[in-house]
Amino acid sequence: AETPVNVTVTGAAGQIGYALLFRIASGQLLGAQTPVRLRLLEIPAAVRAAEGTALELQDGAFPLLSGVDVFDNPKAAFDGANVALLVGARPRTKGMERGDLLEANGGIFKPQGEAINAGAAADIKVLVVGNPANTNALIAQSHAPDVPADRFTAMTRLDHNRALAQLAGKLGVSVSALKKVTIWGNHSATQYPDVSHALVEGRSVAEAVDRGWLVDEFIPRVAKRGAEIIEVRGASSAASAASAAIDHVYDWVNGTPEGDWTSAAIVSDGSYGVPAGLVSSFPVTSAGGKWEIVQGLEVDEFSRGRIDASVAELTEERDAVQRLGLI
Ligand code: NAI
Repeated sequence: AETPVNVTVTGAAGQIGYALLFRIASGQLLGAQTPVRLRLLEIPAAVRAAEGTALELQDGAFPLLSGVDVFDNPKAAFDGANVALLVGARPRTKGMERGDLLEANGGIFKPQGEAINAGAAADIKVLVVGNPANTNALIAQSHAPDVPADRFTAMTRLDHNRALAQLAGKLGVSVSALKKVTIWGNHSATQYPDVSHALVEGRSVAEAVDRGWLVDEFIPRVAKRGAEIIEVRGASSAASAASAAIDHVYDWVNGTPEGDWTSAAIVSDGSYGVPAGLVSSFPVTSAGGKWEIVQGLEVDEFSRGRIDASVAELTEERDAVQRLGLI
């Protein structure tokens, strides 16, 4: 039998963790042939709850699950990790300024980056889900100098999936009829869901729907979907976020289909005028375990403005964490 892949999940006792862990155990993260060993990291106060989830994982009798360990120490949790899903983060609470939020998260993602640097496996792949995801990924990456920067990513796949679902609903097609949708920038309300190059059954999406709907309904609906879920569900997106994390890692490991791309926040190499080093969402393909930014796309004036606005926010966040000494 294959040796198990070590998957470390932080925030394992949280609501995304609860939805995510069972899908990993069932083989949906890496593929139905790959055994996994789960390493759950929680804060001390939530370790008991994570142990409860570990008992339930045992009760799932998953053939591919070769073990579950629970930790409250990042060094131990990331030791030997092949895949790390950084879900646990400090949420914004009432009256909290952005600086306080970034600082509190720096206190989480700096030691986690250091622990990944110290002990993760040579092929480590990191996905940051916990918000502010792009900047948390930047913080972790900057404290892991011995790990190639392209192993650190942040999740905009939920935004991408939301965009696909909105378009499919509008056009009356299955999501599988859609290709080449892009999320640019930050996982925040400034993100830019872009259909300039998108295709529906081979035809241009931009020609199939009217411009007013795209600008006034589609873009804000996707960008503010997180708030809509909170409003309707009374709690933030959890199972859909877990599902997107599964999609992101599955595609990273197994590759994206020919003739399509997806969206992921990765360390910029300067493509499309996004300053090198920022963790920003791009149109990406994956092959051989590496993300590549889709090159050569034409960016019209409208798209340029939207991309620049979101990237400006990422630059501000980076400058703020730099001032706080977090990177
Ligand atoms: P939750 O509050 O239910 O769970 C978070 C868990 O993280 C808690 O159990 C907490 O004890 C744990 N935690 C906190 N600090 C930790 C640390 N230093 N080490 C290990 N664990 C730690 O939150 P939920 O709903 O599971 O969401 C988690 C994060 O994902 C939030 O930051 C949320 O904003 C973000 N999110 C991101 C999305 C994306 O598209 N990128 C979508 C939805 C949520």
